[in-house]
Amino acid sequence: MNGIVDGICARRSVSPKRLIEPGPSLVELHEMARATAAAPDHGRLGPARLVHIQNERRDALADVFAAAALEAEPKSDTARIEDARQRSRNGACLIAVIATITEDDPRVPPHEQWISVGAAIQNVLLTAESFGYRAKIVSGARVTSEAMRSAFALKQSEHLVGFIAVGSYDGEPKELPRRPVDEVLLEWAE
Ligand SMILES: Cc1cc2nc3c(=O)[nH]c(=O)nc-3n(C[C@H](O)[C@H](O)[C@H](O)COP(=O)(O)O)c2cc1C
Repeated sequence: MNGIVDGICARRSVSPKRLIEPGPSLVELHEMARATAAAPDHGRLGPARLVHIQNERRDALADVFAAAALEAEPKSDTARIEDARQRSRNGACLIAVIATITEDDPRVPPHEQWISVGAAIQNVLLTAESFGYRAKIVSGARVTSEAMRSAFALKQSEHLVGFIAVGSYDGEPKELPRRPVDEVLLEWAE
């Protein structure tokens, strides 16, 4: 075992509503972006990018979350809309993950680009943990809503994958069982 593997295996998601201040500094945020750019990336297409939601922009994002909730369920009551608004305020730091997927690249099929985005997300989560924070990526139906697509000015090839919340949490995160090695690692038999 070494420190990196122990760190990877100890990573645990914590609900955004429990990820309180302090959140990452600007320098730490830049390190997360640097780690994003270090993900494996066939053809160097750079399919993942991060959009940081500054805390003073959370109210504006709350309006978008509310619009997305109404889009999904036009009969949503006030409590449901308020819940949607609150979700935009959770997490000391909130980062949207945008994927740009080129459908017709002759060398790099879309699934490889999505895999690169997933690796970038993992790099952000692990970098956040390396600084002593906890983090979680969440999506929900809202990410494909027209309200959200318009708020992030997404082109047809762009997708809002989810929001990474990062913050401080001094409890013990819930221990989720991990699959045993013999289920994950097999030997090839012809
Ligand atoms: C792209 C993506 C979107 C996700 N969206 C949600 C979500 O909306 N709600 C949720 O509870 N978990 C979501 N998850 C799963 C959590 O982020 C987390 O991985 C899961 O709860 C397992 O916890 P762990 O990371 O501690 O193993 C998502 C994961 C990924 C990769």
